Amino acid sequence: MTRPEFPGISGKSLARGVYRVQGMHYIPRMNFHILTFGCQMNVGDSQWLSRALRSRGWQETTDEQADVIIINTCSVRDKPEQKVYSLLGRLASIVRETGAFVAVGGCVAQQIGAGFWNRFPFVRLVFGTDGVAGVPQALERLASTPRLRLSLLDFSEEYVERGQDFPDASVSPSAFVTIMQGCNNFCAYCIVPYVRGRQKSRTSASIISECESLIARGAREITLLGQNVNSYGQDAGGDGLSFTQLLRRVAVLPGLARLRFVTSHPKDIAPEVVAAFGELEQLCPCLHLPMQSGSDAVLARMGRKYDRARYLDIVRRLRQARPGMVLTTDIIVGFPGETEQDFRATMDVLEEVRFERSFSFKYSDRPGVAAERMAFKVPEEVKAERLASFQARQAELTAEDLRAQEGRRVSVLLEELSKRQDEGGLSWRGREPGGRVVDIPVIDGGPDLTGALATVRISLARKHSLLGEMEGTP
Ligand code: 5AD
Ligand code: SF4
Repeated sequence: MTRPEFPGISGKSLARGVYRVQGMHYIPRMNFHILTFGCQMNVGDSQWLSRALRSRGWQETTDEQADVIIINTCSVRDKPEQKVYSLLGRLASIVRETGAFVAVGGCVAQQIGAGFWNRFPFVRLVFGTDGVAGVPQALERLASTPRLRLSLLDFSEEYVERGQDFPDASVSPSAFVTIMQGCNNFCAYCIVPYVRGRQKSRTSASIISECESLIARGAREITLLGQNVNSYGQDAGGDGLSFTQLLRRVAVLPGLARLRFVTSHPKDIAPEVVAAFGELEQLCPCLHLPMQSGSDAVLARMGRKYDRARYLDIVRRLRQARPGMVLTTDIIVGFPGETEQDFRATMDVLEEVRFERSFSFKYSDRPGVAAERMAFKVPEEVKAERLASFQARQAELTAEDLRAQEGRRVSVLLEELSKRQDEGGLSWRGREPGGRVVDIPVIDGGPDLTGALATVRISLARKHSLLGEMEGTP
């Protein structure tokens, strides 16, 4: 198809664009590239955007070939925010060469908004979480209207549904489904309620219909996503179903092999959810349960509404319900007022629970959160020291856990065939039910096994992942 005359399009940014005709309008088809930072909610938003754009005839390419680069940002700690600024600085030279423009979404976009426009004129769209649904149309408008800038930053009262009718867009064997947006907890350190708004549950009917459509297009594993999934339905949205009831409905959808969910607040884990781990075989034996601190005094100042004893009790009940349960957590070191003794309490809980993996961070002040105004900020070097000792001990525990997997036979959901970094061969990458990453080297590509559940013998533990040998695929 030759490029039609299209008044008002000066060209450079559409140089690689072709067009499809919709009614009387020419709609540009473009190349896009998505960069994602932060949590799985952002990964889920990016996956949806990719499907939505591909279904409109756009192509996913490298940043250098892209007509639009979409950055999905995170502002939960200040480092990721700085990353966005330095990334935009680096992209400046690429967009100068290629004429591409940039769309910035997610939490930093919500926070900085049109503030990006002065510093980075090639940013032509800013969008927040509730604006994601409108991004495909906005990008098409921007592509055909030079110099236009758009902002999709409004919060809405209800969960904003996104189109799901993308019959042609392939999906990953491991897919994400958002069940709620926002958070009502206002933990003292956290910016999420400010940048993602109040909790809004999605109706179970739309969640289930999205799951069914993803399964029909190749998803075998679904991760239900929300800032605090255990309080699903406890707001004006939802439709009366509790989180456990939702889990039970999704788990039995025909064709679904595995179900996961993230993130859980310990204060909201209902006994029925713990029981579900013992009853639903599709529910993977792993749970991300952010502890944040092992000190009751710090937990109270954080406003977490549980104490160390309650956290440990949930751990005990989970392990009872499902032996072999893999537990992962988030830890903040150096929260305002954290003493050496408080920190030791965190190390003690690490020893007691022996998390398989954890994500640990130095406390960082976020604008407007309660902890920003707290006294007794912990000096940077103390935070760094505490973080290093926590991470060193966690690395040992992770290594022990991975070594304990050697010789085991596990089922791995094959997600992608990738080039091996070591000898340049190929290997399948996937996860075992506990969420541990497994690489399975293959001599040549062989048949496409994407989405297969393979039986794999674990041959070797590496630093962060496992190496295995394929024994069979169903
Ligand atoms: N400083 C450091 N870590 C933070 N997190 C959230 N806010 C902050 C902050 N201000 C961490 C918490 C949370 C994870 C997603 O990020 O551990 O669980
Ligand atoms: Fe932030 Fe707390 Fe809400 Fe998690 S539960 S998103 S830490 S405010």
